[in-house]
Amino acid sequence: MRTVFWENNELKMIDQRILPARFEVVSYRGHKEVAHAITDMVVRGAPAIGAAAAFGLALAGYESASSSTSGLLADLQTAAAVLKSSRPTAVNLAWAVDRIMTVAGKMKEERNVDQLRLLILDEAQKLADEDVQINKRMAEHGAALINDGDTIIHHCNTGALATVDWGTALGVIRTAHEQGKKIHVLVDETRPRLQGARLTAWELEQYGIPYEIITDNMSGYFLQAGKAQKVFFGADRVAANGDVANKIGTYMLSLAAYDNGVPAYAVVPTSTIDLSLAHGDLIPIEERNPNEVLDIQFQGEPVAPKNAKARNPAFDVTPNRLITGIVTENGVVYPPFEVNLKGVVK
Ligand code: MRU
Repeated sequence: MRTVFWENNELKMIDQRILPARFEVVSYRGHKEVAHAITDMVVRGAPAIGAAAAFGLALAGYESASSSTSGLLADLQTAAAVLKSSRPTAVNLAWAVDRIMTVAGKMKEERNVDQLRLLILDEAQKLADEDVQINKRMAEHGAALINDGDTIIHHCNTGALATVDWGTALGVIRTAHEQGKKIHVLVDETRPRLQGARLTAWELEQYGIPYEIITDNMSGYFLQAGKAQKVFFGADRVAANGDVANKIGTYMLSLAAYDNGVPAYAVVPTSTIDLSLAHGDLIPIEERNPNEVLDIQFQGEPVAPKNAKARNPAFDVTPNRLITGIVTENGVVYPPFEVNLKGVVK
């Protein structure tokens, strides 16, 4: 099953807020509800939110009462702005919305209003199907970097749940496992939303890949002790110089990997590479509700004092010097990233 899919004129998505306790699929008929689902992290992961937004535009097409293609396009533009503003860091979201809007804009003279609605849905479906193919190509390139017997530290969730299917960094691990390589994954919890402990562990169980959960602050210990040979993660946006914005904690993990001579790879579709931004300081970093940090319990009691305040930046930027290679569907890119990234972005 796919994480994000179209069925019976509705957008359907696996509800990632409640996994692994319950597996539920939720249905959407309006683009505003889709935008809210992205903000609320029913769906999360850069490629998955891109696909959700693309289908959100298809819904906006059907929501529009316009009988002219220019009226439909105006309604779509409003919907595009709503969808784009749902989360700021992952460039895949804006990339997907822009791709659909470009196709709609080009065809508005050649199609009638109903044909245009269908065309938008077709394009969203194409984008979703391509995501799966791209992930499988990345996985082949990335799996070649994994040796039999490797222990890999993985951050956040980058699997089928973070994409339409298969995954980015976790897709690499999955393909290496399917190739018969004996691998072990140290799954870091990924505070505060625990995408590692909840979602990555759940996926690894489905695939039969051996793993253990570690708290985020244990990575340095395992790297220093020589107990992990590789670090793999995804990204929400890669700047033109190879600086990588990814889930909060990626920077600290990459520092510890670098200090111990352990290679750290980012696995990203080229739609995650934003050549318009020269370096990572220009990437917008989402700051989420502090309750995500505070609403955690220990032995049934809240961990923090009642009036505690908290900060909650959802992403950080890992400077390019800490990244060994960037795996894309068009091959693995090595430094100097400012030169070599241009070669893989078509
Ligand atoms: O806040 P999230 O769960 O959407 O963050 C997801 C990540 O940081 C992933 O590592 C990233 O989107 C790339 S994986 C497909």
